[in-house]
Amino acid sequence: AKVNFVGPGGGSQSIEIDDGISVMEGAVMGGIDGIDADCGGQLSCATCHVHVDSAWLSRLAPVGGDEDDLLDYAVGRDERSRLSCQIIMTPELDGLVLHVPETQH
Ligand code: FES
Repeated sequence: AKVNFVGPGGGSQSIEIDDGISVMEGAVMGGIDGIDADCGGQLSCATCHVHVDSAWLSRLAPVGGDEDDLLDYAVGRDERSRLSCQIIMTPELDGLVLHVPETQH
């Protein structure tokens, strides 16, 4: 399904991510800048942080307990923050819009 990544400068990039893999994996494979994902999806780095577009927030699975704890380490956490390694692609998420933060560190 298609995911649109809006960069800190406002430019956006749209890539196709296979169902069943995480948005983080798709972003890294798709060459999206700003998704550092230092831990490779082990839920231990918080550098795969994204801000979900408001229109999509309620359509994602809820934040997990461990994700919630780790998000406290994300730079600039807000109510739209998620860790992209914890968002698994499904057909329903086609057209998902995510905002990439200016920095992950
Ligand atoms: Fe490290 Fe998501 S890639 S927490």
